[in-house]
Amino acid sequence: MCGIVGYVGDSNAYDILIKGLHRLEYRGYDSAGVALINADGKLNVYKAIGKVSNLESFCTEKDVKGGTGIAHTRWATHGEPSDCNAHPHFSEDGEIALVHNGTIENYKVLKDALIENGCKFVSETDTEVLVQLIEYIKKHTKCPLLDAVREALRQVIGAYAIAVIDKNNPDTIIAARKSSPLVIGIGNNEMFIGSDATPIVEYTKEVVYLNDNEIAVVSKNAPLKIINLDNEEAKIDVRSLELSISQLEKGGYPHFMLKEIFEQHATLRDCIRGRVIDGGRNVIVSGVMDSKEKFLNAKRIIIVACGTSWHAALIGKYLFQDMCRIPVEVEYASEFRYSNPVIDERDLVIAISQSGETADTLAAIQMAREAGAYVYGISNVVGSSIPRNTDAGTYIHVGPEIGVASTKAFTGQVMVQTLIAMAIAELKGTMPKEKLVEIGQEILKIPEYVKQTLKLNDQIERLSLIFTYAHNFLYLGRGYSYPVALEGALKLKEISYIHAEGYPAAEMKHGPIALIDAEMPTVIIAPNDHLYEKIVSNVQQVKARHGSVIAIVTEGDKEIRNLADHVIEVPAVPECLTPIITSIPLQLLSYYIAVNKGKNVDMPRNLAKSVTVE
Ligand code: AGP
Repeated sequence: MCGIVGYVGDSNAYDILIKGLHRLEYRGYDSAGVALINADGKLNVYKAIGKVSNLESFCTEKDVKGGTGIAHTRWATHGEPSDCNAHPHFSEDGEIALVHNGTIENYKVLKDALIENGCKFVSETDTEVLVQLIEYIKKHTKCPLLDAVREALRQVIGAYAIAVIDKNNPDTIIAARKSSPLVIGIGNNEMFIGSDATPIVEYTKEVVYLNDNEIAVVSKNAPLKIINLDNEEAKIDVRSLELSISQLEKGGYPHFMLKEIFEQHATLRDCIRGRVIDGGRNVIVSGVMDSKEKFLNAKRIIIVACGTSWHAALIGKYLFQDMCRIPVEVEYASEFRYSNPVIDERDLVIAISQSGETADTLAAIQMAREAGAYVYGISNVVGSSIPRNTDAGTYIHVGPEIGVASTKAFTGQVMVQTLIAMAIAELKGTMPKEKLVEIGQEILKIPEYVKQTLKLNDQIERLSLIFTYAHNFLYLGRGYSYPVALEGALKLKEISYIHAEGYPAAEMKHGPIALIDAEMPTVIIAPNDHLYEKIVSNVQQVKARHGSVIAIVTEGDKEIRNLADHVIEVPAVPECLTPIITSIPLQLLSYYIAVNKGKNVDMPRNLAKSVTVE
């Protein structure tokens, strides 16, 4: 989704802003732009459809000097991707420029009122209304920019993170947020703004995460000031960034996605560190300890999430039910929030999100909290909105995930849920201690099992060549492997644009079996678990219809090996840990198919890494 960068200081803002826009590319976008105030106090705005590199080409030989600027990558919502609809938008008098991430729901009413009062609009965006409204208020009330921004925001319904500059006040950026993220970086006589910390980390480790309904005055030579919409001064909470530049680079890999797949042995080690102790005998998840009573008294767990995180949530359902004997419901956050859900204070809601910024998940959290439920967050991005809007939670600690297709976050989310389920099972006494210890010991070996699984890379790369031009794929699994099938299909769809469907294997005969023929490959996730014999029959059913089967099986498998066309053998692990291992070959398969097709693996068309609008 849209990305914002801002800089005010003595360096050339343009260089910092362009670098920042490149860092934000992973979020997904279709156009980019920059606004700069030069030394003569002139406000220059440059925009270009397409990649940030197009903007750079457009800016060659333009005046890009100046120590104050804001920049933006746009992911179109209102109005098609075009130079004109790209941000920054500027006021009719050309004095104020603004960038925005979010949606202004009442923009039509505001726009009509402004047009009636003589304002002229040039774009089709909802954003332009904000900058015109700010100018209108400033002109008519003769107030400073800060007051005009505050007044304009009081009239706005919707979600926003904005950064505004005014050529009459060249050393200051006004920034504000509601439901869309914004981070401010504090440097030495220079300040930075970012939709997340990635464009900032190179310059400073000191950051302030803006809260909803806050407006920041970000100046070169004055301390940061934050007020709320009622003009009351807010507390400034300076945090230290735990992020390094190397985490934001490809590190020799051709794509972030491949790097992130290959990092999983290390990311899972980080995720487990300090949580599985005493050689696997004990599991400690501090968030769970802080919420002990809530977990023990929960009559039901509702897990809300979107996309890949929702697939991880489905695995959570099996984990919490199996280990803790608590009924679990898994909901798409976008459906949950509009389904008039029945929730009360004995419900425990778990929200899962890699980015911690997904708009629908945030809205579901708010709704659950208003209904009295206790909300527990599972996120990756430290300081993001979800951990700040939940009662307690756990970070998955897998490091920044830049590839749009989620890989290491998925395995981290599954791992954290496993640990939480084990911690609760121990507290509730719903599982024999020996069984918990056995799983704990195996969890400590997971990084090693993942390393072994990654050795399948070459086999899967070769296999991908056979299936690159298939038009449809079916992914089947049962029990813990059913969400893995859904996730495998999603991975393939989003980066290779091949249609793929994930299905519970036994449901196949209630419909999808009609699709099976020699043209359509079926990927069957069939580790050696309690449903193994059942899935063997599903493989037979596909083969009986001349379907081609790629099977993910446990090392040493005998039966499926004789039936399937292609077999990928993964290390044996306890059933509850199989999703972590079986999902890896599927990540690699979709990666190589997309690469073979020449697709932009890290930034697939139309997709955004962090979905901050509904
Ligand atoms: C995963 O590959 C997708 N890009 C997408 O489904 C993602 O998981 C979803 O948008 C949820 O994001 P979140 O985990 O940051 O909330």
